[in-house]
Amino acid sequence: MPEFDLAIRGGTVITASDTVRADVGVRGGRIVAVAEGIADAARVIDASGLLVLPGGIDSHVHIAQDPGPGIVMADDFASATRAAAAGGNTCVMPFAVQPRGSSLRSAVDAYRAKAEGQCHVDVAIHMIISDPSEAVLGQELPALVADGYTSFKVFMTYDNLVLNDRQLLDVFHVARREGARVMVHAEGYDAIRYLSDRLERAGETKPYGHALSRPEVVEREAAHRAISHAELIDLPIVIVHVSGREATEQIAWAQARGLKIRAETCPQYLTLTAEHMKGLGLEDPMAGAKYVCSPPPRDVESQEAVWSGIRRGIFDVVSSDHSPFRYDDPQGKLNPRGKTSFRWIPNGIPGIETRLPVFFSEGVSKGRISLNQFAALTATNHARMYGLYPRKGSIAPGFDADLTLWDPNRRETIRQEILHHGSDYTPWEGFDVTGWPVMTIAGGQVIAEDGKVLSEPGRGRVLDRAVDPAERRQA
Ligand code: URP
Ligand code: ZN
Ligand code: ZN
Repeated sequence: MPEFDLAIRGGTVITASDTVRADVGVRGGRIVAVAEGIADAARVIDASGLLVLPGGIDSHVHIAQDPGPGIVMADDFASATRAAAAGGNTCVMPFAVQPRGSSLRSAVDAYRAKAEGQCHVDVAIHMIISDPSEAVLGQELPALVADGYTSFKVFMTYDNLVLNDRQLLDVFHVARREGARVMVHAEGYDAIRYLSDRLERAGETKPYGHALSRPEVVEREAAHRAISHAELIDLPIVIVHVSGREATEQIAWAQARGLKIRAETCPQYLTLTAEHMKGLGLEDPMAGAKYVCSPPPRDVESQEAVWSGIRRGIFDVVSSDHSPFRYDDPQGKLNPRGKTSFRWIPNGIPGIETRLPVFFSEGVSKGRISLNQFAALTATNHARMYGLYPRKGSIAPGFDADLTLWDPNRRETIRQEILHHGSDYTPWEGFDVTGWPVMTIAGGQVIAEDGKVLSEPGRGRVLDRAVDPAERRQA
């Protein structure tokens, strides 16, 4: 009987803190050794010339959500996690949304049931709280946190999700007491409505109107307000999908004051601009809808400000905010109302499969960040921030054998035809990258190799998490 189920030999092992030439030995789905000379294994994979990275963890993805009447999200759990696996990820974190007036518990139970038996990679579920009623704050939320749903997102905009300031404070209060992690979508609802109304009245209804209706000041104001509320309650929060210079400055200011503000950004804010919503000179006047997401991508100066924030350690995680809709589809970006005004174009872009190659290429290959920063920003910090560490997020004995073998020199051009997601387009069509995931290993099993997904739906588990007792504080 060989000592190991799997040995990965000859690669360069990258963690958030170290770069070492070592073999990795796997037994029972876990890493049991990182050392030289591991050979006695049932299967040996030659990783010479490759990087061995912690499997990507994408802690912000939207899968199989109900976006409202007549609109359908392009991915279910099977297709989204298939795409995740092909793109070098071994764990993703989607959201169970509480519809207004409904129970949070029943939303979570129904969402979990949708995921069970469908996933190629492991999944840990966040919640979205849209209706912080007495029952939700008093009973449901504390019980759900105790049951392993230890994080949730709140919104400062969107008609069906927005919380007012009092509701935000009440939710923050419960999160502090229960030790839950809170993610905040920081864009100001009333300012967006005011600007949208004016744009529509002026006939500015094309997709680019989306960018005009959500300028950086709208994000900056909301980020500052969320930070102030978090300071009042003494709660660490995560400002998600930070898009540009102004919100980055607010977060840097808060961190310099010693506040526990964490931050996430996404590849779209590092590589796309608002100009994409003009359709890039394409004949199709609606083509800009392919890039409509919130907050909108900004400009090159803002991209550089976010890169600078990444290098200075202001950002903890880079996620995809995968929120896929089909473009050429009346239930997607080109729904009948969406053609009348940008206001009705479903918000969000697909990115679960392209996050790692785009960020590696623009970050590591272009010399902006180190390999260790890449591992931290795409895996380790996600696991630490959302209660998956030390089970996931690094390469050391005891961790799940979730690994991505990465060819740092391979050049590829991103094209829809090579992707596995349910959407009919990618915002990165024609984007050249250097660095590519050549094999994804989850729980010691090869689940994707060279663009082919080898696992069956149901291999991935729905994970429960536990609150760190240190995070639970007297309210
Ligand atoms: O436009 C986006 N980002 N859609 C997904 C929902 C969200 O706010 O994250
Ligand atoms: Zn959001
Ligand atoms: Zn999102």
